[in-house]
Amino acid sequence: MSIHIAAPSGSIAETILLPGDPLRAKFIAENFFETCQQFNAVRNMFGYTGTWKGNRVSVMGTGMGMPSHSIYVNELLKDYGCKRLVRVGTCGSLQAGVGIRDLVLAQSACSNSSLNRMRFKGMDYAPTANFELLSRAYNAAVAKGAKVHVGPILSSDSFYDDEPDAWKLWARYGVLAVEMESAELYTLAAKYGAQALAVLTVSDSLVTHELTSSEEREKTFGAMMEIALNAIFPSA
Ligand code: HPA
Repeated sequence: MSIHIAAPSGSIAETILLPGDPLRAKFIAENFFETCQQFNAVRNMFGYTGTWKGNRVSVMGTGMGMPSHSIYVNELLKDYGCKRLVRVGTCGSLQAGVGIRDLVLAQSACSNSSLNRMRFKGMDYAPTANFELLSRAYNAAVAKGAKVHVGPILSSDSFYDDEPDAWKLWARYGVLAVEMESAELYTLAAKYGAQALAVLTVSDSLVTHELTSSEEREKTFGAMMEIALNAIFPSA
């Protein structure tokens, strides 16, 4: 048991998928796993452990934003010994060449959050994906014929910014997309010697103001899941 996860030790796999939405976690467990058993319902942050092609794997929601994500990931690493954490989520495009429904693999995660400023006493840390997971996810995406981009993203503390053009500074420096969790995931994984990757589909564009429909999100979601699972279990 940890403060926010009411699961006995050993009930969470070393490999865990982390969508933001707990109902997405339920959907993944019920539609992609061969077997599944719920391990958490505290605050409705559903978590399940099952198998994918015979490999033990868990999935759990983390909520939106780094403070929520950080609570769950801290406990998964520290109290449950998770070793491989893959965020599966959505992002907003910051580049004309990154279209809606495309896939973004976050090689690194910039941030406007104060979490790492506090942690590193004002100095800069570079939250970085695990290269093994990243290269396997890239190869799986290419093999699937997905339109995939690899590069830096922005993990932002705000979805609704007071300054609507604030994202353009990051775009000018080559940042591909914005979401709200991965910088903290990568930092915590590094602290605990674990592997982490964020696999994201583009749900909206700050450049063109396009949005994906929920049906489109459903379709691209399936492709993203296949790529994430193939990256995690390459010999499956
Ligand atoms: N901003 C922040 N987070 C997001 C977005 C966005 O436009 N789209 C998906 N996650």
